Amino acid sequence: MNFENLIYSVEEGIATITLNRPKALNALNSALLTELSTLIDSIANDSSVQAAIITGAGEKAFVAGADISEMHGKSPLEARGFSQFGNAIFRKIEQLPQPVIAAVNGFALGGGCELAMACDIRVASTNAKFGQPEVNLGIVAGFGGTQRLPRLVGPGIAKELLMTGDMITADRAAQIGLVNHVVAPEELLGKAKEIAAKMLSKAPFAVQFSKKLVNEGFNMDLDRALAMESEVFGTLFGTEDRLEGMTAFLEKRSANFKAK
Ligand code: HXC
Repeated sequence: MNFENLIYSVEEGIATITLNRPKALNALNSALLTELSTLIDSIANDSSVQAAIITGAGEKAFVAGADISEMHGKSPLEARGFSQFGNAIFRKIEQLPQPVIAAVNGFALGGGCELAMACDIRVASTNAKFGQPEVNLGIVAGFGGTQRLPRLVGPGIAKELLMTGDMITADRAAQIGLVNHVVAPEELLGKAKEIAAKMLSKAPFAVQFSKKLVNEGFNMDLDRALAMESEVFGTLFGTEDRLEGMTAFLEKRSANFKAK
């Protein structure tokens, strides 16, 4: 697939999506978001893609936010539409059946932090910086930040970041649970691929349902969520991979999963 604002490749089942507007620090404009939306739809139906990594082009930024020069002239109605557009795309990323890992290689601000939060896992390089600086612009986060940040780090720390606009280091982001791992810049993609490959070596339905149960459980009360977990737990007992996994353990060998 050819894009103007994205670079896309697939290797050994792992797709790498590189947001590619380095001169604007990969700021999210409508053209980039439209391409990203198309690509996510295609990945959702592509069984050759078993996991995806999202990263930014260049050494400076993952994504420095939504494109401020494009937003500058928007009316309230257009701005609401832009927020809805981004929210719908990020929701599609969150709901992809495949695992998605953000490899955060620099600034992840505003919409960039929000994109990273829509991924399942965040790996950051030591030079990454996170923040929701929208209050500096007279706006609030509009691609999910006011909702996903408190879910990830708790309301107190989320409110501090959203209400001060402060930027934080990768180490601080790891400390508050916003990122899973911090590694040297040259190790970033390798670390993201290592995590993806580990997930791909496990029973595919079990991995997919683990993601789905966490995502859907957040929208339910605990009793319904636990009932859903038991339902899926039982269903997986009907799969060949479950039998293979438990048999392999008892036979002291490694399992050979077949997504059946
Ligand atoms: C458009 C941007 C941009 C952005 C950077 N650029 N961020 N263009 N939108 N969000 C452009 C700059 O204008 C500049 O272009 C080039 O990228 C390099 O940036 P500099 O500012 O020169 O770099 P530096 O001095 O190193 O500062 C880096 C930075 C700063 C700290 C990341 O660029 C910055 O503060 N950017 C804005 C961050 C931000 O407020 N993000 C939130 C946006 S609101 P030229 O042409 O001058 O070289 C948001 C809302 C999401 O994301 C929800 C929407 C519904």
